[in-house]
Amino acid sequence: MRLVLFGPPGAGKGTQAKKIEAELGALQISTGDLLRQAQADGTALGLKAAEYMNAGNLVPDEVVVGLIEDRTSQDDCKSGFILDGFPRTLPQLESLDQMLKGKGEGLDRVVSIEVPNSLLMERLCGRYSCKACGAVMHERDFEEGAPKVCLTCQTDALYQRADDKPEAIEQRLRTFDDQTAPVKAKYEQMGLLSRIDGVGSPTAVFDRIKEVLN
Ligand code: AP5
Repeated sequence: MRLVLFGPPGAGKGTQAKKIEAELGALQISTGDLLRQAQADGTALGLKAAEYMNAGNLVPDEVVVGLIEDRTSQDDCKSGFILDGFPRTLPQLESLDQMLKGKGEGLDRVVSIEVPNSLLMERLCGRYSCKACGAVMHERDFEEGAPKVCLTCQTDALYQRADDKPEAIEQRLRTFDDQTAPVKAKYEQMGLLSRIDGVGSPTAVFDRIKEVLN
């Protein structure tokens, strides 16, 4: 299965990609995670990308396209992948299309997770991610007064992302409307797009995605 998970910041792409990976076996490839890993490794690419990311802007196309080309050509992607956060511009969409065509492949589906803007700020400001296992959770998931440990691996390796501050979130939402929304229109034209309601519990949203994929 070759799938694109599409949606604005905070729509739940990462949360759902992990569920699909666990239940349906396709590998999650998140451009945001690849860029954050490059930052943590202190590479030149990672340090340059951090400037764009912390301000809520997109990293240049050629950088992310290069990352996706490298990652999808690895052996563990042979039976498919879930792209989380890519493509985000029309040139990225074109590059992906050409790359897949070059291998005689194509996308099976693009799932757009639809969530009103009014819910996104609250979701992102309350997000915690785990450095140890990669799990993503929300402030409201913790018991009141209890120490915040990862709800999946129980370590205290939780952190809040540098770009989950209100000013950066507002800029990310503007960037999504200006540069990424046209990608959805293009996939709709290509007959690949399925819209699903992203409001409700993560499990309810996952059930809707499974219905579309079946
Ligand atoms: P990236 O890491 O991809 O961030 P994003 O697209 O802004 O998406 P998020 O990870 O913030 O949200 P999500 O939809 O995955 O939601 P999540 O599941 O975590 O990109 C970061 C930056 O990297 C970009 O701004 C850009 O600079 C750069 N970049 C990345 N890709 C790029 C590209 N292709 N081109 C150029 N630049 C690129 O959930 C969010 C919160 O909501 C969590 O707390 C979660 O627990 C909660 N939640 C999830 N589902 C639900 C639900 N159903 N109900 C209630 N709460 C929920």
